[in-house]
This record gives sequence, structure tokens and C-alpha cells, in this order.
Amino acid sequence: EGLFTYDPGFVATASCESGITYIDGAAGVLLHRGYPIGQLAENSNYVELCYLLLFGELPSKAQYDDFAATVRNHTMVHEQLVNFFKGFRRDAHPMAILCGVVGGLAAFYHDNLDITKEEERRVSAVRLIAKMPTLAAMCHKYNIGQPFNYPRNDLDYAENFLYMMFGNPCESYEVNPVFAKAMDRIFMLHADHEQNASTSTVRLAGSTGANPFACISAGIAALWGPAHGGANEAVLNMLDEIGDESEENIQRFIDRAKDKDDPFKLMGFGHRVYRNFDPRAKVMKETCDEVLGELGLADDPQLKIAKRLEQIALEDDYFIERKLYPNVDFYSGIILKAIGIPTNMFTVIFATARTIGWISHWNEMISSSYRISRPRQLYTGHSKRDYPTK
Ligand code: CMC
Repeated sequence: EGLFTYDPGFVATASCESGITYIDGAAGVLLHRGYPIGQLAENSNYVELCYLLLFGELPSKAQYDDFAATVRNHTMVHEQLVNFFKGFRRDAHPMAILCGVVGGLAAFYHDNLDITKEEERRVSAVRLIAKMPTLAAMCHKYNIGQPFNYPRNDLDYAENFLYMMFGNPCESYEVNPVFAKAMDRIFMLHADHEQNASTSTVRLAGSTGANPFACISAGIAALWGPAHGGANEAVLNMLDEIGDESEENIQRFIDRAKDKDDPFKLMGFGHRVYRNFDPRAKVMKETCDEVLGELGLADDPQLKIAKRLEQIALEDDYFIERKLYPNVDFYSGIILKAIGIPTNMFTVIFATARTIGWISHWNEMISSSYRISRPRQLYTGHSKRDYPTK
């Protein structure tokens, strides 16, 4: 008693055993169930990756078809949830709405909440994966004052999300295949990343026996911050603020990031685990070039600023010494913007994609022997003193 390891920020603490995702930060390697992220991004798709993360193996064709059909079967949300949305101000940040409505799902789907039963955990997992794009798109539609779209189950996961985001009842909506492919890839690249802040939050909440919807809502809250999932939104705001690609302008922001008296950080740069190129950023950059190229937007001013910024930072001693490289969010925002997604939805999309990671970790923990997570502290307050009496 009293002998603890003091590790603020958990830089040297393994909180659990896990067989889902492997990261070698020095080498810039990311494997899901053993498969490199680059190979998965190239050859697989988000729904297959969900299966792999949740169940541990790639599905056979029949297993894939069955899983995809089950996910489709759960895309609608309870109609009563519409009223829940309507309680929010129209100008509420979509992440604020998402935290609320996902936590609220336990009030609608409490029929399968016995977490000791594998089958019931699976139903909740599928419900979450299937309903997140629907809820995410509802956040956007609510913001802009358009009617909600019901999911279209003839479309695949990413196509359906884009339809729910951009379709409206007055005109037919054709999903652009370049957008759909890019969207699917963004979902894949954000699907899981071992014990990051939000996943650790989900595990911590889950260790109390809380229901999966409550746990995922806790994860969404942790993801919101600009040091974590909020970074993709912050990158675009930063590129906006930089404004033009003139050399001295970009250099001014690099200098600010290096200045320890200035709280500004280069958003989309640096990572707790990667001390090398983030392997997701490599794929994201390629996707960004592909999408903007196909749209004839290769001269996009923000892309130009981002590329020059990256180049200057990678040649600067400050960033070299600290091994700071672009992370997954450096280029994702530019792609999302090209697709037409508003900046305030970026982190909601990250949350949608990461739901499979969160629920896979939650399920892994609940299926094994676990204890309630209960860190200790180094007490720095007053020693015992007496309450003053007259
Ligand atoms: N710009 C300028 N300096 C930086 C940056 C940056 N983006 N990132 C780290 N540093 C400096 C930091 O100030 C420190 O310097 P010193 O040693 O002189 O004190 C050194 O590099 C080491 O960084 P750290 O703060 O100890 O690293 P950390 O592991 O505690 O934080 C991080 C990691 C991702 C929070 C941080 O790099 C950061 O704030 N980056 C910008 C936000 C961002 O892009 N976040 C997305 C992360 S990837 C997606 C996700 O996980 O959600």
C-alpha cells in the first residue's frame, strides 16, 4: 500500500493485454490482427475490417455477406430519437449532439444489454456500427435545417453515409464513386489504434460493467479534444488561418509552433506512439492526391499550404529532433472538405469510424477476466488539520 508507479499521461504503462492492434511507433508500423494497414486499405473495405477487428479473422465470402447484411439490417434508428435531436439548438456542435444521442441509445436498445452474454454483446456491437453513420448524418442535417434521410440499404456503408449526408427529398442523389472510395478509406484508416485516449476511456468505463452505448458515448467525449480526434477539424482551421501559401506566412506558423511561450501547435503533427511517419498518414496523403486529382482540384490552395507546411517542418531541426511527423489527421480534413463535408463534422466522422475499434476493445475486455480500472494518485494536498471551532 502506498507504493505506486507514478506515470502521468501513461507514457510507460500498459493497461491491458490485447490481440487487436499492434503498433511499432519507431518503425511506423500498424497491424490490425496482424495485417498491415496499407494492405488492408488497398484490398479490403471498412465492413470487412469491422469483421476482422471484432472477430479476429478475415471473413469467408459467406461470413462477409452475412455480416454485411446484418449491419444493413440495423441501420435505421428508433423514430423516437428524432425528438431527442429536436431538443438541441440547431447551431449545437455535432459532437455535442453525438455524445448525447449515442449515450441515449441505451434507452432505446435495452433489450440486449446483458453484457455477460456473447450474443447480446454482438447485437449491441452491430447496432452501434450500423447506426453511427445514420446518427452522424442526422447531426449534420439537423445543423443545416434539412429533413433527416432514412438509410438506403441498397448502398454500401460509405455510399449510404454520403447519401444520408447529402441527399434530399427534392432531387435524386448520385453517389460519386471517387467520394465513396475515399470515404471508405477514411473510415478504415480511423478504425482502431490500440489504447489511445478514447479507447482507454471506453475500456475504463466498460470496466465498471456499464452498458456498451454508455461506454461508446464516453469514448466520443474523449475523442472530441483537439489533441485527439478534434485534430482533423483543427488542421483545417489552421490551414484557413494560414490563409496563403507565401513562404514567410507558412514560416511564421512553423516558428509559432516552435515557440514554447506560444500555446500554438502544428495541428496534424506529432504522435505519442509514432516517432516516425504515421503509416496511416502515408495512405491518407495518397488518397488525398487521388481524390483531388480526380476532381481536378490538384491546385487546391489548402492542399498547397499543407504540402509546403509538411515539407518545411520535415526539414526543420525542431521537428527532426523531436521526431514529429504528420499524423493521420494532417490530410484527412482536406479530403473531407473536397467531398463537401463541413469542418464541424470531421470529428463526428472520426467517431463513426472509431466505433468499431472501441466496441472491439470493449468486447475483448468483457470476454476476458478484468477488474475495475482504478488508478491511484500522488496526494499533494494538506496533511490532516482540525476544523476551527469557537
Ligand atoms: N507542434 C509543435 N510541437 C510539438 C507538436 C506539435 N504538433 N507535437 C509535439 N510537440 C513537441 C512538444 O511540445 C514537446 O516538446 P519539448 O520536448 O520541447 O517539450 C515534444 O514535441 C514532445 O511532444 P509531447 O507533447 O511530449 O508529445 P505527447 O505524446 O504528449 O503528445 C500529441 C502527442 C499528438 C498530443 C501532440 O503531438 C500534439 O498535440 N499534436 C497536435 C495535435 C494532433 O495532431 N493530434 C492528433 C494525434 S493523431 C490522431 C489521434 O490520436 O486522434
